Amino acid sequence: MELGLMNRPRRLRGNAVLRKMVRETRMDKSSLVYPMFVIEGTNRKEEIPSMIGQYRYSVDRMEEKLIELFQAGVRSVMLFGIPNQKDEVGSGAYAQEGIVQKAFHKAKEVCPDMYMIGDVCMCEYTSHGHCGVLQGQEVDNDKTLEFLAKTALSQVQAGADMVAPSDMMDGRVAAIRRILDKSGYINTPIMSYAVKFASSFYGPFRDAADSTPAFGDRKSYQMDYHNRREACKEAMLDVEEGADIVMVKPAMAYGDLIREVKDNTNIPVASYSVSGEYAMIKAAAKAGWIDETDIMCEIAVSAFRAGSDIYISYFAEELATCIEQGRIG
Ligand code: PBG
Repeated sequence: MELGLMNRPRRLRGNAVLRKMVRETRMDKSSLVYPMFVIEGTNRKEEIPSMIGQYRYSVDRMEEKLIELFQAGVRSVMLFGIPNQKDEVGSGAYAQEGIVQKAFHKAKEVCPDMYMIGDVCMCEYTSHGHCGVLQGQEVDNDKTLEFLAKTALSQVQAGADMVAPSDMMDGRVAAIRRILDKSGYINTPIMSYAVKFASSFYGPFRDAADSTPAFGDRKSYQMDYHNRREACKEAMLDVEEGADIVMVKPAMAYGDLIREVKDNTNIPVASYSVSGEYAMIKAAAKAGWIDETDIMCEIAVSAFRAGSDIYISYFAEELATCIEQGRIG
């Protein structure tokens, strides 16, 4: 039968070599960042119950994981510290001998070529679990800036190569830039969690970091997920304040915003595939309902297709392996 079809999109799908030739989204292991939790004590490697396959490591046990990641081709790690003691003003966040500071020292000693990023926030360190210091029942934005700046500086002094503020206070990028510059760290980049939503996808992380707010929620500082134009406003403000990279978080349900931020800024865009995304994939795979590796790959590619230059994921090591094998990328 003569249909006279001029355009047959299937022509480009008929052969694996050709499919790869015309592939629009390319991924590289250098874009992957692995988030890692560190705890006090010695010889501890504890599985996080809501994040099967993810662990909290004591500083002396970090080495094995860092080397394993490095060998898989993951060259960047973001550290989260979980202190033993918490207080009202999150002193552990900026203590010289704080947990994350000790971890940066150790990481640089045992795996010096791993690029280390510090998550800058107070929620893991405050007794009330909020991301800043309180004035009554409210987080005091301007007072919190000093604490965040101190935290960022202490991480850089301990060896962090980059800092990533995740608190969502107004003006924190500028405050951090100022203190780093004043202290001589003019070349230390800031990756801002610019577009961070008040999201239930962070549930398992809060188990892992013991950082659930003791009262209320984070809606007065993290964004309302109904908003798209506000995402541009937040990203553009952070660019003006001197952010070097902007992040969208979560990633999976927010591809439209990754694209929006990508199209409206001229700096690299990161996305963070958060704990709840990981936990859902793990749980469904464990039940035998989905193929874990296939789904992980499909979701990761979607973030890059949406415009991510950098992808922060608990699956970073597995993704690196899939890229190496040519399964994706
Ligand atoms: C700290 C912080 C959170 C996450 C990253 N940094 C938790 C939160 O904002 O409640 C979430 C990461 C994840 O869920 O994987 N503010």
